[in-house]
Amino acid sequence: MQIADRLGKIPPYLFMTLRNKINEARKAGIDVISLAIGDPVEATPVNVVEALAQAARDKSNHCYPTDEEWGMFAFRESVARWYQRLYGVDLDPGKEICALIGSKEGCHHFALGVINPGDTVLVTDPGYPGYKPSIWFVGAEPHPVPMRAENDFLPDLSAIPSETAKKATAFYLNYPNNPTGAVATPEFLNDLVAFAKEYSIAICYDNPYSEVVFGTERLSFLNAPGAKEVGVELNSLSKPYNMTGWRIGMACGNPEIIKAIATSKANTDSGVFNAVQYAGIEALDNCDDFIAEMLELYSKRREKVLTTLRELGWRFDAPKGTFYLWVPVPEGFTSAEFCDLVFEKCAVVLAPGAAYGENGEGFVRFSLTVSDERLDEALARMRTGLKSLSF
Ligand SMILES: Cc1ncc(COP(=O)(O)O)c(C=O)c1O
Repeated sequence: MQIADRLGKIPPYLFMTLRNKINEARKAGIDVISLAIGDPVEATPVNVVEALAQAARDKSNHCYPTDEEWGMFAFRESVARWYQRLYGVDLDPGKEICALIGSKEGCHHFALGVINPGDTVLVTDPGYPGYKPSIWFVGAEPHPVPMRAENDFLPDLSAIPSETAKKATAFYLNYPNNPTGAVATPEFLNDLVAFAKEYSIAICYDNPYSEVVFGTERLSFLNAPGAKEVGVELNSLSKPYNMTGWRIGMACGNPEIIKAIATSKANTDSGVFNAVQYAGIEALDNCDDFIAEMLELYSKRREKVLTTLRELGWRFDAPKGTFYLWVPVPEGFTSAEFCDLVFEKCAVVLAPGAAYGENGEGFVRFSLTVSDERLDEALARMRTGLKSLSF
């Protein structure tokens, strides 16, 4: 039987590999704590669960979703209210918003709707591992754009050779950034819009951590003047409302790209279950306080991890976004070697930076999405197991 060649390009999904490793160790009786995966353990807000239950009881929601590929108009209106309230961004729910089955799905439909076979597509390196497969699936080639600590993990747009920029048709970016935790600045977003205009590059600004910032302003790509002329922002209910399993998000911005995404979706899936969209409206309209509570929780966990790392001898500036910490590995280790050491000595799993791209080497990623109790236990093990490390 033939399996498509395109699948051959795709490396094993990092988290599948880590999950297998964790399951094997657990089977062997080891009490493993995973700080590798970014999946909140706290529950979705109760009022959102109630909204789902109520909508699920209404049989008119049991049919194919309303306005399948675009999402229910009421959901799109709620997204517009959310962007206006939190970011001061105006969006037309009729043509500038489309519902998604999560922002990961949006990244894929952006590729199907915007990119041609043979195109060059810019992606940040390190970067979210979901982008490259979407680019390969449409027969295009990803071109890595380095993100370095000395530039606050923002890509240096002026260092992209003009030959490459001229060839590129699209650019995937994400700030607050997974994996580095870096946040964008208004100046960077202005430069990005100018760069996209100069080279006719469509921007896929993937922003599912937009709400998860510490001591800095939340920022949307759509805050930059002219952003809607060059791209879209993908956002998601997964991270701010602990709804990773619900599969709901939104694409917002350039009407032509939104239409292209919707057309691709119309021929692939039949949209998001109406009841989930009603629950999404409840989250977007009525859960601002919940986001604030979650941020406080992550902020405390973040401080705990940073305090332990400092005690162990680490010296580095932690970026201000996401529920991840991007931590340089001690001298003499690769990221994979250091993860192996932490696993052996502490039964704690971290994500190796090299899995996020060549420029991720030298770092590991800690996720703050475990319970306080498990995080305390992981840190206690690290204080004992790693105390002889030298920096
Ligand atoms: C940068 C980035 N984009 C997209 C996603 C997927 O989000 P969603 O659950 O909305 O599909 C993730 C999840 O970890 C992510 O880190």
